Amino acid sequence: MCGIVGVTGNDNAVEILLEGLQKLEYRGYDSAGIYVNDENGSDYLVKEKGRIADLKAAVGSEVHGTTGIGHTRWATHGVVSVDNAHPQVSQDHRFYLVHNGVIENFKELKAQYLSDVTFTSQTDTEVVVQLVDYFAKQGMPTKEAFLKTLSLLKGSSYAFLLMDSNDPETLYVAKNKSPLLIGLGDGCNVVCSDALAMLNVTHEFLELQDGEVVTITPNSVEILDREGNGVKRESFHVEMDAQETDKGTYPYYMLKEIDEQPNVMRKLAQMYLQESGKTNVEPELVAAIKEADRIHIVGAGTSYHAGLVGRKLFEKLTHTPTEVHVASEFAYEKPLLGEKPFFIFLSQSGETADSREVLVNVNAENYKSLTITNVQNSTLSREATFTMLLNAGPEISVASTKAYTAQIAVEAILAKAVGMAKEQVIAEEFDLRQQLGLVATGMQAIIDEKEEIEDLAKEYFVDASRAFYIGRGIDHTVSLEAALKLKEISYVQAEGFAAGELKHGTIALIEEGTPVVGIITQDNTASLTRSNLQETLSRGAKIITIVRQALAKDDDTIVIPDVDEMITPLLSVIPAQLLAYYTSLNKGLDVDRPRNLAKSVTVE
Ligand code: F6R
Repeated sequence: MCGIVGVTGNDNAVEILLEGLQKLEYRGYDSAGIYVNDENGSDYLVKEKGRIADLKAAVGSEVHGTTGIGHTRWATHGVVSVDNAHPQVSQDHRFYLVHNGVIENFKELKAQYLSDVTFTSQTDTEVVVQLVDYFAKQGMPTKEAFLKTLSLLKGSSYAFLLMDSNDPETLYVAKNKSPLLIGLGDGCNVVCSDALAMLNVTHEFLELQDGEVVTITPNSVEILDREGNGVKRESFHVEMDAQETDKGTYPYYMLKEIDEQPNVMRKLAQMYLQESGKTNVEPELVAAIKEADRIHIVGAGTSYHAGLVGRKLFEKLTHTPTEVHVASEFAYEKPLLGEKPFFIFLSQSGETADSREVLVNVNAENYKSLTITNVQNSTLSREATFTMLLNAGPEISVASTKAYTAQIAVEAILAKAVGMAKEQVIAEEFDLRQQLGLVATGMQAIIDEKEEIEDLAKEYFVDASRAFYIGRGIDHTVSLEAALKLKEISYVQAEGFAAGELKHGTIALIEEGTPVVGIITQDNTASLTRSNLQETLSRGAKIITIVRQALAKDDDTIVIPDVDEMITPLLSVIPAQLLAYYTSLNKGLDVDRPRNLAKSVTVE
């Protein structure tokens, strides 16, 4: 949610910024901008509505520099416009600022300090850059003016990158609740919201803690903590290959990421499961969950849906009561906690502000927690007691696919490990290594039939305004994810529904031609879901079925291979991902960058 980049001390500053913003476009894509200057005192500010490609076109070949900052925006305060794009600029064009986050008391600050200033944007960010200018005009050096401004921001989340055009080689950085990393280059240093933006410059990064302020020049990085004390910090190495973030020959990242799922399953089986049936899960983590009287899974969106599947896995394999919470609701619907709760955070990005807020509270109570994430060293990973990595490779498309299936696989692995530690026979007998092998082959078989699924998307969804996915039990949880995928990238209003609940009201929405997809993978509910599908058919619905092989009938539409009933979501979701993809594609939409969305949601 908003991407930030910065560089100091590199002749290719413009290319580095634009390349970095391109990699961060998944974080927001309604407008973008850069500010660069060089050692001769020339400087350039270019901002554009739309995508990074539009910014690149506007930058052209004239703009050059050695130090600069850049931003790709997901609007929070203020409409999408060039004026509201970042960098935001102080009145006399001395200071330039990019920002990710939300300044809660910006109106009060504006009224208190800046009544004489003419504002050019509607953003909360402009208040901050004008404040720095205000304090600089009172005689404070830039850093002091920046620190003074930061001290006035209440309850705010921010990652800031500030430049003073009078001091062309220095970047001023501050971070609170929003992600930001410093990259250490050769004779140059960089700043970015996500390491993948700067892998062409460096693989060595410094993480920042909340409240820290950093001054960066080409050859130095000075970190101050909240109290103003100097901080020494070791860098960490990011293994990821810059090419992993390329689309290759795929038209969209989403299709690439769907295709990668069989390999992700094989990789996870290899990493976490031994041939002997033992798991490679940290013993301290297993012990902590074994002791818990209740497991609480927390997530948002697709990660929440993966948590719903996880609940069934943990209850079956570990015999521990498990609850799943929508992160943004947790604070207001806080459950009654037992003596020993254990918290599991599911987050592809590891940065989701809603989930982080819950983790901050969990840490304040000294409860133990685990983050299951795709991003090494992400905020949620650093702040939880334990981390398990999804190792799914970067997920760039806004619609999450491989992270969902990887999260379910890791939950299954963990549930098996804890179940075995609790001597649960069902966990001991669950040959997950073999099952994940079957899943990988099964996923591939479904993906190989993608042309047929594209035909279904064209026939059923492309012209539909409304659609339903229905299922019972674990199939119901997949129906929620399937519907989310369809609506977020194809704008078809889709709902995932408990099959048996439809007749209690929602069936009124079924009309001639309404597409209804039934997910049928469980022995004990198959015939009931089929009856519910018939009820919609009698009212004019057009039906698709996604059915596990052992339960399939001649007229079923999509038959998925047999795997253990506990992990069927790993397969039943694949046709739904492809249906969503092809609906969006055939409607001529931007599959990877759906309207109004951003990938990493770092505001609450
Ligand atoms: C949907 C999607 C979102 C995310 C949600 C949480 O396709 O990607 O619903 O799942 O914003 O994000 P993470 O998992 O990064 O915490």
